[in-house]
Amino acid sequence: MSTNPQANPGVEAIPQFDLAPQYAAIGREIRTAVERVLSSQQFVLGREGAALEEEIAALCGVSHGVGVASGTDALILALCACGVQAGDEVLLPASTFVATGSAVSALGAKPVFADIRPETYNLDASELARRVTPRTRAIIVVHLYGLAADIDPIVSFAKSHKLPLIEDNAQAIGSAYKGRRTGSFGDAACLSFYPTKNLGAYGDAGMVVSNSGEIATRIRTLRNHGQTGKYLSSEPGWNSRLDEIQAAVLRVKLRHLSDWQHARRSNAAEYTRLLQQVPGVMPPFEPEGFEHVYHQYTIRSEQRDALQQHLAARKIGSTVYYPHPLHLQPLYAHLGHKAGDFPHAERAAQEVLSLPMYPELRKDQIARVVEAIAEFVKC
Ligand SMILES: Cc1ncc(COP(=O)(O)O)c(C=O)c1O
Repeated sequence: MSTNPQANPGVEAIPQFDLAPQYAAIGREIRTAVERVLSSQQFVLGREGAALEEEIAALCGVSHGVGVASGTDALILALCACGVQAGDEVLLPASTFVATGSAVSALGAKPVFADIRPETYNLDASELARRVTPRTRAIIVVHLYGLAADIDPIVSFAKSHKLPLIEDNAQAIGSAYKGRRTGSFGDAACLSFYPTKNLGAYGDAGMVVSNSGEIATRIRTLRNHGQTGKYLSSEPGWNSRLDEIQAAVLRVKLRHLSDWQHARRSNAAEYTRLLQQVPGVMPPFEPEGFEHVYHQYTIRSEQRDALQQHLAARKIGSTVYYPHPLHLQPLYAHLGHKAGDFPHAERAAQEVLSLPMYPELRKDQIARVVEAIAEFVKC
């Protein structure tokens, strides 16, 4: 039987991401938790949020968690709490979601980009020494797609230059490096609970985790109008509070995160096993001592766009994260970068393709995706 949907319109679509099976499995638990919040009539900065802060901090292996309204806010508030101000420079990878850079810009600071390692897509530590200046005030390291950056040399660099290190852990909750969880290496780490994340809310939400009581207290103040007492503000802040319904949803999902992570890793192993027979396509790389949580299963191909179209014609979803490196975004045209400045980030933007990945993805669906890729490679 043909698996080409043009020949067989009844063929099942395989979306790149699908939350429906998750809700089918845990909907009852979710509704019970939401009902609990509705009955309490406490909607902002209550018991659910406080409990979630403790649970997420424990998961990351740090002592404090501060819930905020999004991952982007987590980055802005963490940068601010680390002392970043207008005119400062912040080092960060050129290959990431735009929020990593725009959080820096939101404070009037300047993002200074660094290239990535081509095999992991994460910040290349050796770039830091080339890009640091006397105006550098902080470093953001991103754990892209669910894989930790090679963090030891980055921590050493930050320490030796007395620069605060912020982890953008939006995509990598639960991942590990040499047995230690991401989110525990920097002065502060930022999480996003955007619905498509491995731990996703039913709306926007985020958190900063840290071992520093000082940073955590500052973020508690900043997220709530700079208030240090009731209706007493000591500095300008934001309204970036985590709401109770999202916290309650996240607490339910947190109980399943380890199983979901296991399922993602098992799906990734199956993809990688099958892709070994397919030339010209590079599966993701998980270095020794790293635990990838496969927020994305991202391959690379020199014919990425044609491959994506081939998959789409067979009702197989895929996404390019991200088609434009930050230095070539119109947002940063004023920084004067040009093509060729960060070759590894640019090449990744042309070649990466994220395949269907979610815990409930079935092995027969993975086989169909790989078959379609193999068919493309043979053409
Ligand atoms: C790497 C990275 N940083 C920051 C963010 C921003 O998070 P949010 O969408 O919750 O603001 C995201 C998620 O979208 C992300 O993937």
